Amino acid sequence: MLIPETMSAIVLTGHGGPEKLVYRTDLPVPKPRPDEVLIEVSACGLNNTDIKVREAQYAVDFDPNSGLDEAGAAASIASTLGETSLRFPRIQGADIVGHIVAVGSDISADRIGQRVLIDFSIYHAKDSDGRPRMDLSNVDYIGHGADGGFAEYAVVPAINAHEIHRDIADTALATFGCATLTAEHMLSRVGAREGDKILITGAGGGVGSAAIQLARARGAIPYAVTSRGKEAAIMALGAEGCLCRQDFSDVENKFDKEAFLAAVAKVTGRTRSMDAVIDQVGGVMFHGLLQALRPDGHYISAGTIAGYTPRVNLHTVYMAFLNIHGSSQGQPEDFVRIVEYIEAGKIEPTLGGVYRLSQLHEAQKTFQAKDYVGNIVVVPDAKWPELGAPHVER
Ligand SMILES: NC(=O)c1ccc[n+]([C@@H]2O[C@H](COP(=O)([O-])OP(=O)(O)OC[C@H]3O[C@@H](n4cnc5c(N)ncnc54)[C@H](OP(=O)(O)O)[C@@H]3O)[C@@H](O)[C@H]2O)c1
Repeated sequence: MLIPETMSAIVLTGHGGPEKLVYRTDLPVPKPRPDEVLIEVSACGLNNTDIKVREAQYAVDFDPNSGLDEAGAAASIASTLGETSLRFPRIQGADIVGHIVAVGSDISADRIGQRVLIDFSIYHAKDSDGRPRMDLSNVDYIGHGADGGFAEYAVVPAINAHEIHRDIADTALATFGCATLTAEHMLSRVGAREGDKILITGAGGGVGSAAIQLARARGAIPYAVTSRGKEAAIMALGAEGCLCRQDFSDVENKFDKEAFLAAVAKVTGRTRSMDAVIDQVGGVMFHGLLQALRPDGHYISAGTIAGYTPRVNLHTVYMAFLNIHGSSQGQPEDFVRIVEYIEAGKIEPTLGGVYRLSQLHEAQKTFQAKDYVGNIVVVPDAKWPELGAPHVER
């Protein structure tokens, strides 16, 4: 196949609003290093992380008790042992699907032609046999520490490119990836087992909708917190019961804890009944979520869509022997499990919409409105006419 010299892509030119995302048609096609492959991108999923990085919203070091203004807090992902690996211009886009069209000198040419889904994590640490290993102090991701998939071509480590045989559209396949890996790692981290009751917040979103299916795939029983109107779609994904967040939380983010705990009791028969909470939301709901747990239950956060400085009564934590975890991304073995689930049809894609790459601004606007279930993807403009069904055109 003839690989062109230049390509179209969206580059992030600095921190700020959508105007920092610029569509270019004159960028060089990257060349794979010895252990990398070149992907011709056919679809790429959207993520909150791309938006938060653009807006410099990761105030990891901010101490809410410091009395300082949080606007001045350090606000970027510190990876590679404390230093940010983000450089401008950067091509974002973590959830890449495409075909291998060239390989680095260490990789077999037999891989050319494979259709692949990319594990977006950059695992800097390696085992003695050279295989990537999750080292929590030294992990990064494609689209942040290296260029990603909002482009016609991308290079990735060959080991991150997982061949997919299942017959589903590339656009649908691109809904798996970052959110799915995060959800699977959260379930692993809380030790979710067959029969466990798992409460999942933000269930209509990428991580939440993945967590419902992945909980079922391992035999656990998922319960969802979601918006009114999304219940039927969430039940169809496999939820055992739905709690409608508008029944206990309003637009000002006020939270009626008694109504929430009554809703938990209604779906499970008991208030403190959950073995684990998989939370993407945080904010005012945080304390109620802890109270929904059985003693020695597990809470895990991978997101703070309703606020990242919640108040907590620590008596609730230590008197009930609660286990509190944090997580983002996942481990190589989590991704391998996801690929097995996809191939076996144990998890299904949830495609909320498809946009042309050049329309990334509009795609992110829809993504942020959250009035869909699953994830939104973009396809390079040149691939638009080739889109196969099923897809949801926007
Ligand atoms: N995607 C990833 O791989 C990843 C990885 C690490 C961390 N995170 C973080 O995890 C969080 C969720 O990510 P995502 O990709 O699943 O996001 P998403 O697709 O945007 O979904 C978030 C969901 O949260 C719910 N929600 C939105 N506003 C809310 C509010 N004010 N109060 C309560 N619920 C609200 C909505 O679901 P309902 O309408 O169903 O309630 C929404 O669909 C984000 O903070 C993200 O930065 C994501």
